[in-house]
Amino acid sequence: MKFFIDTANMKEIEMAYELGIIAGVTTNPSLVAKENVSFEDRLREITALVSGSVSAEVIALDAEGMIKEGRELAKIAPNITIKVPMTPEGLKAVHTFSKEGIKTNVTLIFSANQALMAARAGASYVSPFLGRLDDIGQSGVELVGAIAEIFAIHDINTEIIAASIRHPQHITEAALAGAHIATVPYKVIMQMFHHPLTDKGIESFLNDWNNRT
Ligand code: E4P
Repeated sequence: MKFFIDTANMKEIEMAYELGIIAGVTTNPSLVAKENVSFEDRLREITALVSGSVSAEVIALDAEGMIKEGRELAKIAPNITIKVPMTPEGLKAVHTFSKEGIKTNVTLIFSANQALMAARAGASYVSPFLGRLDDIGQSGVELVGAIAEIFAIHDINTEIIAASIRHPQHITEAALAGAHIATVPYKVIMQMFHHPLTDKGIESFLNDWNNRT
């Protein structure tokens, strides 16, 4: 399973990218709104640094509007992936983008049937939202497992991005359930580093080194 970072914050992207573990970036309108910058300028900055997939979400709700917006966003850099919501209009847009060779990420996936339809429309990625499903008492990880199984049975190449990640345990479980990618907030990336025995081990090695005879 690969890691994307789920943010529109340049500092977080730079810091995570330096770690060498980040293969792409996902943004959404809520994340971009926090930044108080032009969306297009921010996408230029991100794609100048990151060569992997960078998801940019359309705002329009009708297929025609999504296609217009997506085509413009795709001109910014060859690694822009157009993020489209899971609706009938969204899938019409995905179908058009796929014929034009524009990569797509179908977002707000909450069921296996939604993922299967998105894949059949030509989506490059589907994004099941783990945390938001957990919030309503359903298992986001089980959904990832079901999608992974269906895609394997039917030989579907669409990649699964585990999204709405809230804590490190989501990452391990998504990897075991067959997600190809997890898109992770910066805070959770940093949480994944920590283990009390790692900290304790570093401390005791340093103590022994400093007290050597
Ligand atoms: C995915 O691409 C979304 O941007 C994101 O993971 C949503 O996460 P949230 O449920 O924490 O807002």
